[in-house]
Amino acid sequence: MNAIPSFAPQPITDIEVRNALDIAVEQVRRNLPKFTYASQNHSSVDNIYPAVSNDQWTAGFWPGEIWLAYEHTGDKIFQYAAQIQVQSFLHRIVNRIETDHHDMGFLYSPSCVAAWKLVGDKDGRKAALLAADQLIERFQPIGQFIQAWGRKGVAEEYRYIIDCLLNLPLLYWASAESGDPKYREVALVHARTTLANSVRPDDSTYHTFYMDPVTGAPVRGVTKQGYSDESAWARGQAWGIAGMAFSYRYEPLPEYREAFERLLAFYLNRLPTDMVPYWDLTFSDKDGEPRDSSSASINACGLLEMADLVPREDAARYRELARRMIKSLADGYAVKDPAMSNGLVLHGTYSKKSPFNTCRGEGVDECVSWGDYYYMEALMRLSRTWSSYW
Ligand code: GLY
Repeated sequence: MNAIPSFAPQPITDIEVRNALDIAVEQVRRNLPKFTYASQNHSSVDNIYPAVSNDQWTAGFWPGEIWLAYEHTGDKIFQYAAQIQVQSFLHRIVNRIETDHHDMGFLYSPSCVAAWKLVGDKDGRKAALLAADQLIERFQPIGQFIQAWGRKGVAEEYRYIIDCLLNLPLLYWASAESGDPKYREVALVHARTTLANSVRPDDSTYHTFYMDPVTGAPVRGVTKQGYSDESAWARGQAWGIAGMAFSYRYEPLPEYREAFERLLAFYLNRLPTDMVPYWDLTFSDKDGEPRDSSSASINACGLLEMADLVPREDAARYRELARRMIKSLADGYAVKDPAMSNGLVLHGTYSKKSPFNTCRGEGVDECVSWGDYYYMEALMRLSRTWSSYW
């Protein structure tokens, strides 16, 4: 197994990007027999992903990897496999199988929006529009947010989470595609609510945030997967950074750019030498806690997204940071030996139980499907002018 390096990474070179992408694509190719008619579990078990049915919030990342492999190679085998996945996603949304939550963007952008954008798959378009319809049903006018989970309107479930910023691009796409502004309006309002409440004065972020179902006033921030309510969950901070970049793309308010900088500074100040965080930013080298490599990949994509939107000097700074993070992941975390793992990137953490959080505890120090996806997306962004699925 790869030993985690302790050196400060240099920016990854273009040749190294191409090599890393080639390695990732071959791993995706090896996985096709197991996962063309099945979904990948959200995380690996002893570094091997089991095949599962299409009912988890994470199911969109594997077809996203297939589409990225298709774009990198032009090999039709990837297109065929990804379009088989699209049928499963259409079936899922038509029959509303485990869709009663906010993760429609994570599910339908990398699978079905990608299918429509890349090969004009009409079922992909139909499925993604239905998913956008489902997502806006969760909008709560009292408090102005998309409710993340659970029965709509009940006080104990009346909250949104910072991760949802990455579900919003589906709504922007749906408005552009359908000509109906209602999706975009929900996304704009939800992003502003997140900015108003989820960033703490020290520039860390709350994972989840409760609102008052009667008055709509902000109530309190609470963690589910971070170490504690007042700590900074490493992936949540990365969702916040990438989410601010996407919010800025779709509504270029200076506040999003400023928040992006502040969240990023907090994150960078708490990274170990190799720039891949422990699963909560409260931890450092002395604590012996696992990393969350997926947080670094998400963060790199956020940096590269923002780099496309800002003047040259800032863009160069963001791209260099992203290249350093991806160099670290490619050298120290990416799977090189397929006998060891059918994933792409080791040392992710889905949710680790702590005395102060409410998660179940699963996928600790494993490959995680979004970690694999965002690692590949970051490599694609570094390798060419990439047209986003988001
Ligand atoms: N969006 C849930 C997670 O990042 O685990």
